[in-house]
Amino acid sequence: MAKMEVKTSLLDNMIGVGDMVLLEPLNEDTVIDNLKKRFDHSEIYTYIGSVVISVNPYRSLPIYSPEKVEDYRNRNFYELSPHIFALSDEAYRSLRDQDKDQCILITGESGAGKTEASKLVMSYVAAVCGKGAEVNQVKEQLLQSNPVLEAFGNAKTVRNDNSSRFGKYMDIEFDFKGDPLGGVISNYLLEKSRVVKQPRGERNFHVFYQLLSGASEELLNKLKLERDFSRYNYLGLDSAKVNGVDDAANFRTVRNAMQIVGFMDHEAESVLEVVAAVLKLGNIEFKPESRVNGLDESKIKDKNELKEICELTGIDQSVLERAFSFRTVEAKQEKVSTTLNVAQAYYARDALAKNLYSRLFSWLVNRINESIKAQTKVRKKVMGVLDIYGFEIFEDNSFEQFIINYCNEKLQQIFIELTLKEEQEEYIREDIEWTHIEYFNNAIICDLIENNTNGILAMLDEECLRPGTVTDETFLEKLNQVCATHQHFESRMSKCSRFLNDTSLPHSCFRIQHYAGKVLYQVEGFVDKNNDLLYRDLSQAMWKAGHALIKSLFPEGNPAKINLKRPPTAGSQFKASVATLMKNLQTKNPNYIRCIKPNDKKAAHIFNEGLVCHQVRYLGLLENVRVRRAGYAFRQAYEPCLERYKMLCKQTWPHWKGPARAGVEVLFNELEIPVEEYSFGRSKIFIRNPRTLFKLEDLRKQRLEDLATLIQKIYRGWKCRTHFLLMRKSQIVIAAWFRRYAQQKRYQQIKSSALVIQSYIRGWKARKILRELKHQKRCEEAVTTIAAYWHGTQVRREYRKFFRANAGKKIYEFTLQRIVQKYFLEMKNKVPSLSPIDKNWPSRPYLFLDSTHKELKRIFHLWRCKKYRDQFTDQQKLIYEEKLEASELFKDKKALYPSSVGQPFQGPYLEINKNPKYKKLKDAIEEKIIIAEVVNKINRANGKSTSRIFLLTNNNLLLADQKSGQIKSEVPLVDVTKVSMSSQNDGFFAIHLKEGCEAASKGDFLFSSDHLIEMATKLYRTTLSQTKQKLNIEISDEFLVQFRQDKVCVKFIQGNQKNGSVPTCKRKNNRLLEVAVP
Ligand SMILES: Nc1ncnc2c1ncn2[C@@H]1O[C@H](COP(=O)(O)OP(=O)(O)O)[C@@H](O)[C@H]1O
Ligand SMILES: [Mg+2]
Repeated sequence: MAKMEVKTSLLDNMIGVGDMVLLEPLNEDTVIDNLKKRFDHSEIYTYIGSVVISVNPYRSLPIYSPEKVEDYRNRNFYELSPHIFALSDEAYRSLRDQDKDQCILITGESGAGKTEASKLVMSYVAAVCGKGAEVNQVKEQLLQSNPVLEAFGNAKTVRNDNSSRFGKYMDIEFDFKGDPLGGVISNYLLEKSRVVKQPRGERNFHVFYQLLSGASEELLNKLKLERDFSRYNYLGLDSAKVNGVDDAANFRTVRNAMQIVGFMDHEAESVLEVVAAVLKLGNIEFKPESRVNGLDESKIKDKNELKEICELTGIDQSVLERAFSFRTVEAKQEKVSTTLNVAQAYYARDALAKNLYSRLFSWLVNRINESIKAQTKVRKKVMGVLDIYGFEIFEDNSFEQFIINYCNEKLQQIFIELTLKEEQEEYIREDIEWTHIEYFNNAIICDLIENNTNGILAMLDEECLRPGTVTDETFLEKLNQVCATHQHFESRMSKCSRFLNDTSLPHSCFRIQHYAGKVLYQVEGFVDKNNDLLYRDLSQAMWKAGHALIKSLFPEGNPAKINLKRPPTAGSQFKASVATLMKNLQTKNPNYIRCIKPNDKKAAHIFNEGLVCHQVRYLGLLENVRVRRAGYAFRQAYEPCLERYKMLCKQTWPHWKGPARAGVEVLFNELEIPVEEYSFGRSKIFIRNPRTLFKLEDLRKQRLEDLATLIQKIYRGWKCRTHFLLMRKSQIVIAAWFRRYAQQKRYQQIKSSALVIQSYIRGWKARKILRELKHQKRCEEAVTTIAAYWHGTQVRREYRKFFRANAGKKIYEFTLQRIVQKYFLEMKNKVPSLSPIDKNWPSRPYLFLDSTHKELKRIFHLWRCKKYRDQFTDQQKLIYEEKLEASELFKDKKALYPSSVGQPFQGPYLEINKNPKYKKLKDAIEEKIIIAEVVNKINRANGKSTSRIFLLTNNNLLLADQKSGQIKSEVPLVDVTKVSMSSQNDGFFAIHLKEGCEAASKGDFLFSSDHLIEMATKLYRTTLSQTKQKLNIEISDEFLVQFRQDKVCVKFIQGNQKNGSVPTCKRKNNRLLEVAVP
């Protein structure tokens, strides 16, 4: 959205009137009242047309900030409240955009704020013009020239602590873009008398105090100065210190500024040396010395100071000393030297000091110009700022005031001319009829002063050049003759007798009626000051100085260029420079700032009406307003005019479609403004009388209020309506929500109630059905029970006759049968495995089946053993039969038996067939060999044992040598009667033979074998099968054995362990054989 631009105007929120052209009625009182009113409200600026009146506030106001600069930048002159920035902006834009050179003329009396105003203008222009490193340097140099010039050209006076004691005109030069290029400064008439003498309460130029306060000890020594002000005659003592001013700090500022402006170090030093020399000159004192020829002579009292000055400046001491004692006058190629008396010597000293200082000042200005001058040759646009001392009226007015006031007179002249010219030009430009305006033209006063034939300045020059005794009195006489008839000249002794009795006019004075008031001038000193005499001896002495700067300041001292012509007088010099200035100003577009001083105390908030009235008078402000209002008081371009007042007429409000001028015409017709009150220019409307404008303003104000009310009304209506609509909408939304909520709640209530009721009803129904079903069931049960009982009764009644006695037994049997049946059926499933060694057997279910259960277990075991046996082959059966036989024979009888159970019975351990050693043995035996084994045959005589092969066949028992296989004995089985053995764990056995048989000749056999059980068993079985007789097997630990004819007892005893596991046999005696069993 485009930013809406608020059109403002000077006319908004005015305090008094911002433009005095609008004052009604117009007179001195209203003008002063208006200024006062505005001043009291801190509005220090007021316009008269395009002229800015500035009243010095003597306090810093917050109206020069960068924001303010921005406010005024590129705004119309009349758009904002009056401000010096508005004028600066107008001037700068006119220069930049319309290519018009500008000058800004700042006038006002001392302390009114001219210098401040000029600085504000410069700073504003610096702020708004182009930027960039180069441009900034130029700006900085231009701005920094101020502190330098102020140090040397300003002083504290009773009116102003920083009063400019010279006139300054500065041209700032710009390029076509409006960027600053450089500048040129012109200075006018430095008040050099201040160097040697200051009025009470005032000071010398700032630089002296700054130097003494701010210089380092080193610098002071170099300059041969002391810090104490009181050491110097030229420094007025009563007000050496200024409140709120730090001279030492300012000294540093100035040196810094000099550096920025471009002073070389040695240049700055030279300048300070000159300043020191001036100070020290004041300390040279003279004493009278009488000479024989009666002429007065003077002598320097203390030559020390002179010596130091000469050292500083490089002047030969004797030359300077002589210059202070003699004066050489050259006339007609003749040099005449006269001595100087004390007064003349002092005059010469002061003249030298003044000249030295004022020439130094001019040199400074030139030096600054050299630095700041534009570096290019391109065409430049120029803005001149003139800060010149204002009109001065003191108690004692002398030549200086005369000159100053003359300058102001000229400025007023140019002001009137240019203002009128501008006014006239505008009328012509706008095609408005020009009416002649009555106003006071001060050209006549200017003429009184500057006329070349009978002007006061011309008279003064004439007097000065005239031979013979010339005094101020003769000058006054001359004026009295020449100017007597002039309207603005007053003198007691003039030819005209008008003032003969005017006691306010002393005899030694003349009075001029300046445009700004009457000023009484003391004629004393006019001639002298106009001559501005510096004795040639002094200027020549200066020229001879070793100090380059001083030498250059006194070119006339060069004897080669000796010039007998008198130098131009101060008056004519000034007149000439003013004339050039005026010419210069006339080519430019003028802008005026007129400064007013509100009080003499340099105090804020005090508005001394008398003082202001005086200034208003001599500044000719009233005249100014009158000139401006002569034709038409107020003018304004059509567009802003229409913009401002269009609300006053229906056709133009709110929008006017046609050209602005037509709009304004319609507007003015509609408002019935008398035709003579306004005029239509090309681009502006001209209003003759401020009253008309105020009427317009009042109407506008009224209308604005109405409009504001209207806007307010519509706005309020709109606001209420939107508020209402919003409320209504909100209400509907809230109501809808609430209804919805309420309905929802009600629905939920109904729903839950319905559920409760439903559940109760369902419960009730269910209970009813349940009750009925239960009842029904009970009925059915009753019926069944009744039927059963009934049936039972009937059956029992029917069958009672058949089962009366046996029924119980039968039932019991049946039940028992059933139980047994069930037991067997269950047992069928529970039978354990068929392994004969399995000891498991299900537990007994009924006690009464106990014996059955045991029997069954036994039967089952037998059966499974049978089953197991049935699996055996014949061979296996044989083996088991043998093993069984062994068991029957030895189990629980012989301790050796258990170890034999696990050993299979092999029979023929010796494989005679296969061993060729026993081939013969084998061939000898025809029968089947049942046992073939190596045994130990115990010797019956001594109990020793020998190995024999023991062979058992079907019918015989054979013993053979183990080594040779040769048969040793052969016993038929029928001859074997008995086998004896111990009950212990040993392998001894005896074979008893039938008494009387062939084999029995040697007696019974006694053997020991590892396979005793097998041998005994097989022997038993074979005997049984062959002889059908049971072989007797005796198991006893003591038995008898037949050895040949003897019966020997074999006794088994428990042997000791030492003999190992083998039983040992020992023949104890004839009857006893002891076997030790381990
Ligand atoms: N616009 C201003 N705002 C604040 N103080 C001001 C203003 N103009 C002037 N002054 C005060 O008045 C004093 C004198 O002003 P100055 O410009 O030196 O006077 P002039 O040059 O007219 O003799 C300044 O030192 C300053 O204190
Ligand atoms: Mg000043």
